[in-house]
Amino acid sequence: MIEEILPAEVASAVSRLDAPEAALFPTERALISSAAPRRRAEFTTARVCARQALARLGIAAAPILSGARREPIWPDGVVGSITHCAGYRAAAIGRSTWFTTIGIDAEPNEPLPDGLLEHISLPQERRRRAHADGTHLDRLLFSAKESVYKAWFPLTRRWLGFEQAAITLEPDGTFDAELLVAGPVSGFHGRWLARDELIVTAIATPRPETP
Ligand SMILES: CC(C)(COP(=O)(O)OP(=O)(O)OC[C@H]1O[C@@H](n2cnc3c(N)ncnc32)[C@H](O)[C@@H]1OP(=O)(O)O)[C@@H](O)C(=O)NCCC(=O)NCCS
Repeated sequence: MIEEILPAEVASAVSRLDAPEAALFPTERALISSAAPRRRAEFTTARVCARQALARLGIAAAPILSGARREPIWPDGVVGSITHCAGYRAAAIGRSTWFTTIGIDAEPNEPLPDGLLEHISLPQERRRRAHADGTHLDRLLFSAKESVYKAWFPLTRRWLGFEQAAITLEPDGTFDAELLVAGPVSGFHGRWLARDELIVTAIATPRPETP
């Protein structure tokens, strides 16, 4: 599903079934050795997806470790993003000669828990939520913000609060994020898709000089 909302030049891979932990490099396994089984499964399967995506770009399998803020550390020359939710794991990777940053997110197409929308949204976002049949717009807004954070962090290495980006969701499956803090970019353009009980969002920002 995520591949439908990413540019063709971005390599992605998805899995709905979990991979065995033997698929991890020892340095990766060390990162999750004390984690709960569910966390180990999502971490492992997302790494398998990431290696499949890297292979599509002709890049050899290598450990994908996590940085101090839990960001994935990609091999030189690529940017990418990982997401996982119940029954869905995905990775998306692009060459850094083509893309400055990538952020992806998957969520169940279910309402947010009570009270969370007020915590993660601005008043104008709650007012201008677009209509889309069968899509839980509060969850979609949350997912778009998660993708924004995952695209923002590698560019800045800075935290971004939910109140620091204003999202406009369009019913045509796109969204815009206006950043309300100073930084190297003023916003992001992204895409979204809701299907099969899932919502996915993606940002892949091309380099301005991309041919
Ligand atoms: C980090 C965060 C975005 C992860 O989202 P999530 O819905 O919990 O989980 P997902 O499964 O979709 O994504 C998890 C993956 O995100 C990636 N990720 C985590 N922190 C990251 C960061 N700082 N930068 C980029 N990617 C990051 C990791 O690859 C992680 O998977 P892994 O630990 O197995 O490698 C979320 O937990 C968070 O901290 N959000 C608060 C910040 C925010 O969203 N601000 C809104 C700005 S408008």
